[in-house]
Amino acid sequence: MIQSLIAILDLGSTENAAIARAVRAQGVYSEIFAHDTAPEALKAVPGLCGIIINGGENRVVDGVSIDVDPGVYRLGVPVINVDHTSPDHAADLPAWPEDPSGVIDSFLDKCSAQRNWNMDNFIADQVELLKRQIGSRKVLLALSGGVDSSVVAALIIKAVGDQLTCVHVNHGLLRKGEPEQVVKVFREQMGANLVYVDAVDRFLDKLAGVSDPEQKRKIIGAEFIRVFEEEARKLDGIELLGQGTIYPDIIESGTKTAKMVKSHHNVGGLPEDLKFELVEPLKMLFKDEVRACGKALGLPDDMVYRQPFPGPGLGVRCLGAITRERLEIVRESDAILREEFRLAGLQGKVWQYFTVVPDFTSTGVRNHARSMEYPVIIRAVNTVDAMTATVEPVHWDLLMKITDRIVNEVPGCNRVLYDMSPKPFATIEWE
Ligand code: XMP
Repeated sequence: MIQSLIAILDLGSTENAAIARAVRAQGVYSEIFAHDTAPEALKAVPGLCGIIINGGENRVVDGVSIDVDPGVYRLGVPVINVDHTSPDHAADLPAWPEDPSGVIDSFLDKCSAQRNWNMDNFIADQVELLKRQIGSRKVLLALSGGVDSSVVAALIIKAVGDQLTCVHVNHGLLRKGEPEQVVKVFREQMGANLVYVDAVDRFLDKLAGVSDPEQKRKIIGAEFIRVFEEEARKLDGIELLGQGTIYPDIIESGTKTAKMVKSHHNVGGLPEDLKFELVEPLKMLFKDEVRACGKALGLPDDMVYRQPFPGPGLGVRCLGAITRERLEIVRESDAILREEFRLAGLQGKVWQYFTVVPDFTSTGVRNHARSMEYPVIIRAVNTVDAMTATVEPVHWDLLMKITDRIVNEVPGCNRVLYDMSPKPFATIEWE
């Protein structure tokens, strides 16, 4: 089915993604295009029914003010002329109002756009596209259990079933219950072809005695690639690699007017001779749409609404040189924190919350005797883009309850602290 599409021409606005998302929120699919996209190329876009020229403060590139090809006004679809810069800016485009939804609503009417962009349509389209791309070939996917890779797996399974092989590497730094959940949901419930790799000892042995945070990250990343590569080489005839690339990854990889925020992530680092064609069914979705897609595909809520979790996992929350004893304290205390936040209705409301365990002990008393045990630090923050963050004002009673549970239920821990530091000057993670 061809869906209506609104093209957003990027004329230097930093709000392109927000406008694209706002159009989709009204049920019409939208995509961002470079300002100099040729009118003929736009005309060839299936479903094109309107164009938003989106100006902003980055309109001047290398001292020259950029503009769209005047041919876009002659394509026979409605064009709206809008700018994001402040009113005193000498813009030749009218300004967006603070809430753009009204302007977008009337524009969509003017374009006679069909408001039928929804997850059921998206899934049906993607299943067809995946079947066409994959044919009878085989696909490999690194399934971490995170939102993006889980949704990619569920979509590809729906399209081509056991032509997909998922590899789940348990590096020992996952949260309590996560590897088990991946096996349960994908192997048992979805019938996926899942290779489960227990690499716990291998990772922890490599990390033993390493206290520098960057070194720890590098070891975890490099070892992950090595394990994944070994598994890939064991499998015959795989030509395609599934990836959880999402639309912000593409947008943040840099446009003609915006500086690159980060390079497009991929399973970089795989050896040259392991060449795969990529399968990226989520590359046009925003994060909340990925979650909606996962939910529509039947993935459990705690997988779909998972809080962000760093690639190096609990490894950057077990401060300094990782030991198995302290790793268990991080894992168990994190599980208690997550359970109590869920029971208190904070799951999905607080952006990120976790525990951290430093590599020193303090004096305590247990069984009427002096004992040296580790402290646990609770961190709970809110943010929009992870560049800055504020501290969640967790209710005192809840903190007391969590403290009571941690010191009673987690062996080796005698103190609980709450981290009050916003970002900046602290980062969200401790390492
Ligand atoms: P910071 O600590 O830099 O974290 O304020 C910002 C966000 O990024 C996450 N984070 C990572 N994610 N690999 C990742 O995939 C990493 O090495 C990493 N380090 C931090 C962090 O959890 C927070 O959401």
